Amino acid sequence: MPSGQYVIDQMISAKSIAARVEELAKEITAHYAGTQKLVVVGLLRGSFIFIADLVRELDLPVEVDFLEASSYGNAMESSREVRILKDLRGEIAGRDVLVVEDIVDTGFTLSHVIRLLKSREPARLEVCALLDKPARREVEVDKRWTGFTIPDEFVVGYGIDYAQFNRNLPFIGKVRFVE
Ligand code: IMP
Ligand code: MG
Repeated sequence: MPSGQYVIDQMISAKSIAARVEELAKEITAHYAGTQKLVVVGLLRGSFIFIADLVRELDLPVEVDFLEASSYGNAMESSREVRILKDLRGEIAGRDVLVVEDIVDTGFTLSHVIRLLKSREPARLEVCALLDKPARREVEVDKRWTGFTIPDEFVVGYGIDYAQFNRNLPFIGKVRFVE
C-alpha cells in the first residue's frame, strides 16, 4: 500500500453491521442449540469488536478465547507463511468451537488456523467471518457464516486496521489515497 494521505469512504454503516450481527447470531444460536458450551475463538486483533457484539447476541453457554496468528511481511501483502503469536488458553478437544475472523482475503490465515484447531479434535468447528473478499482467494476456506461479501478494496473500521489505525471507527470504510 502506498504511503501518504488517505480518506476513508464509508462502505457498511454501523446500523447495517448491527443488523447483520443479529442475524448471524440467530443462525449460530440455532446451529449450536443444546450445546453444553460453545468456545468462541476470536482471531486477534481484527475480530475484537465483532466478537464482542456477536457473543452478546448468542443465546448459548459461551466461553471466549483468543488466538493471534500473523503472516510475515508488511501490512498489505498477505504472506503464505502463518505463525501463531498467541495460542488459546483453553482446551478445545471434544468441544463445540466457533472461529470468528474479521476478513477472509487470500485464505491463508484461516486455512492454517482451521487446520491447527482441527488437529486438536473439537466436536464441531465452524467459522464465521465478518467480511469476505472472494476476488483474492488463493486457498479455499470452509466457512459456514459470512457477514458481508465485499469487492477487492482495502477496508478499515469496526476492529479492522490500516497500519494499526482506524480500528475504532464504528463503521467499515474503504481506504482511498489522495494526492
Ligand atoms: P488472508 O490470509 O490473506 O486471508 O488474510 C486475512 C487477514 O489479512 C485478515 O485477518 C486481516 O487481518 C488482513 N486483511 C485482509 N484484507 C484486509 C483489509 O482490507 N484491511 C485490513 N486488513 C486486511
Ligand atoms: Mg486478521
